[in-house]
This record gives sequence, C-alpha cells and structure tokens, in this order.
Amino acid sequence: MNEINIKDQKLLILKNLSLSFGGIKAVSNLSLEVNSHEIFSIIGPNGAGKTTVFNIISGFYQPDAGEVLFDNVNLTKCRPHEIAKLGIGRTFQNLELFSKLTVLENILVAKHLFVRTNFIGELLKSEKVIKEEDKIRKESLAILQYLNLEESKDIVISNFPFPIQKRIELARALALEPKLLILDEPAGGLNIIETKELSIMIKKIQRDFHITILLVEHDMSMVMNVSDRICVLDYGEKIAEGTPKEIQNNIKVIEVYLGKEEIDVRA
Ligand SMILES: Nc1ncnc2c1ncn2[C@@H]1O[C@H](COP(=O)(O)OP(=O)(O)OP(=O)(O)O)[C@@H](O)[C@H]1O
Ligand SMILES: [Mg+2]
Repeated sequence: MNEINIKDQKLLILKNLSLSFGGIKAVSNLSLEVNSHEIFSIIGPNGAGKTTVFNIISGFYQPDAGEVLFDNVNLTKCRPHEIAKLGIGRTFQNLELFSKLTVLENILVAKHLFVRTNFIGELLKSEKVIKEEDKIRKESLAILQYLNLEESKDIVISNFPFPIQKRIELARALALEPKLLILDEPAGGLNIIETKELSIMIKKIQRDFHITILLVEHDMSMVMNVSDRICVLDYGEKIAEGTPKEIQNNIKVIEVYLGKEEIDVRA
C-alpha cells in the first residue's frame, strides 16, 4: 500500500488539541487518528476530558490550541450544524431529545435541519416539497424499523424509560447518515443484558452502514468487546493507545484505574 492510500484511510485526525476551563486543563496536547470504518474508543476516569474531546470535534467547544481534521476538512472553526452536515452524528451523555415530541417527530425535526427547504415551495406545498417530505418520512421510518422502534413511532418521548430514549437518540443520529458516529456513554444506565445487546447493535451498525464509530464508555466489557483500538485519557492527556489486548495489559492504564479504585480495565 502506498503512502497516499494510508493517508486516505484516516477519517478523523486530532492534532495537538488543548482546552482549559479556568485553571483546569480538560484536554492537553491530544493527538490521535481514527481510521475509516473502525470502532475507536476513548476511555479514562471521570473528568479525564472524554466528553470535552467530543464537544470539540462536534463544534460545541473551540479548542485553545490544535486542529480537528475530518475527511480532509479542517473543522476547527466550524459550527455544530456545519459539522453535522459534513457527516458527524452524535449522541449525548445526557439525552438531548425533544421530550414533548413523538419518536418520529424527533427524527423528522433532525432530518429537516438537513434539507434545504424553499419557503414559497413550503407554502404552496409544491410537488417537489411533497416528494421530499415523503422521502424523509420513509427514510425516518426505515431507521426506526432498523432499531426496532417502529411500533413506538407515535409515542411521546417522555413516556419511555431511559434505555429506550437512548436507542431513540441513536436512531436520530443515524438518520442523518453520518460518516462518523460519536457515542458518549451509550451504555450508561443500561443493565448487563441491555449493554450486551447494545454491543452487538453497535458492531452491526458499523457493518451495515459502513461507518466509523467513536465511542466513550465506562463499561469495560463493552469497550473491550467492540473496539478495534482504544485511547486512554487521564487528566486530559493520552496515556496509552492500542488494541483492547494491549490496553488491558498496559501497566500505566492498570495503575490509573486501580489507583482511582474505579473500574477494572481487565473486566
Ligand atoms: N463547560 C465546562 N466548564 C467548566 N469545566 C468543564 C466544562 N466541561 C468540562 N469541564 C471540566 O473539564 C474536565 C473534563 O470534563 P469532561 O466532562 O470532559 O470529562 P469526562 O472524561 O467526560 O468525564 P465523565 O466520565 O465523568 O463523563 C473536568 O474537570 C470538568 O469538570
Ligand atoms: Mg463525559
């Protein structure tokens, strides 16, 4: 394989990213590269900077220094909606759904943000607009069906327990047809069986949609099971990177986790 091909495989490149909040260095000189079609996880203790990295990639925070390159585009100065349009979809650590809308409405609202609507056309309900609406609705229903949510399509979000709301948020992110899907603690609040099902689903999504997945997760069984590669953060700094096996056997990583008496990385 020549050098150009190797470079082409990098979908996301973080270069020397730093961001402080007051005196706290949330992310410190972080560089990493995510290949197309891999499942790449970022792990680390609470407050290590994982969500901050996601917020920088998706444009919610501007880094103090460094760059984010996605599909050969520099995202560093882009706004969240521009980044979403370039092909980065995400879910949030704390759900960000419209709780008073139905499942289908949540997906439709997200998809409409992606469609250029013409005001006059909207008013007159031109044939083109009607066709577009129909297409959006069909695509949204197909995603709901894929995630076994079709029967719940007309139910208002606030009626669902947390695990189902997480699945709905995943549907919404997928409906925008991202090249890169960013998941922040998708197993948070799920029980062991639900977490296992989600692990299977994440791998299936990666295969079926041919996408790249960037995952933050505290559940080590899921991380070790689904990830191609893992990066470990501690106090905003990368302390290790490698395959699940390499990370499980990395002394520095074991010390960080055992030292904080939090999670056993060898789980
Ligand atoms: N908007 C903010 N304002 C001030 N401090 C912040 C902000 N966002 C994050 N921080 C701080 O930055 C550090 C990293 O936080 P971050 O949320 O990225 O950690 P995390 O690795 O996602 O943790 P967790 O596993 O608990 O979700 C923490 O010290 C946090 O308090
Ligand atoms: Mg977080």
